[in-house]
Amino acid sequence: MDGNGRWAEQRGLDRSEGHRAGAEAVRRTLQGCRNLGIKYLTLYAFSSENWRRPKDEIQQLMQLLRQFLQERRQDLHKHRIRLLTIGELTALPSEIQDDLRAAMEESRNYDQGTLILALSYGGRREITRAARDFAEEVAAGKARPEELDEQAFASRLDTAGIPDPDLIIRTSGEQRLSNFLLWQASYSELWFTNVLWPDFGKDELRDAVEDYKRRHRRYGAREQG
Ligand code: FPP
Repeated sequence: MDGNGRWAEQRGLDRSEGHRAGAEAVRRTLQGCRNLGIKYLTLYAFSSENWRRPKDEIQQLMQLLRQFLQERRQDLHKHRIRLLTIGELTALPSEIQDDLRAAMEESRNYDQGTLILALSYGGRREITRAARDFAEEVAAGKARPEELDEQAFASRLDTAGIPDPDLIIRTSGEQRLSNFLLWQASYSELWFTNVLWPDFGKDELRDAVEDYKRRHRRYGAREQG
């Protein structure tokens, strides 16, 4: 969800205003996904690298996240959307951990859609952690190296049980993954737009999905007839 800072700068506003507008774009996108029948949405809300930002910006993002959870809780309930997180939850301020755990617990049996928040998330860390967990099991004699295949490895990632993303959207003209879902994005379609995240809305989401529908996904195989 790139471009909050630039959006604010272009208007002579503080970066915090950009993040606030970004949270509004999140709300619109959730609604857009519901209308389009998209069942899984993962938002890269805070990366493991974002901890390097100034303290007050981090604080403001955490505050926005809290506010978002409080405001959207009713929506999740009303529309039967399950909330999940990926990333290092324990790195977050404890009150946010509590809010997240409560919202996840409350929504765990909802089956109309899944919203996944990537928080303090980094793909390389996730993969490294899974590899280390398995190595520890082997060292403890609880697993054998030959038991590890792609499926077994994927089941150790934060995204266990969540399908790989079909489409990854990146805003604000950047064209890279920036440590997002590195394992899971192997065959994802990528869609880039110059639109800054706070300006992202239903029209852009629809364009991305329309473009996606025109693509032929071959997963490395040859195109059929
Ligand atoms: C990147 O823009 C955006 C972020 C690091 C934070 C994303 C957070 C939100 C959209 C709001 C809160 C999230 C939720 C789920 C309520 P940037 O600051 O890097 O912008 P720039 O590239 O223009 O500097």
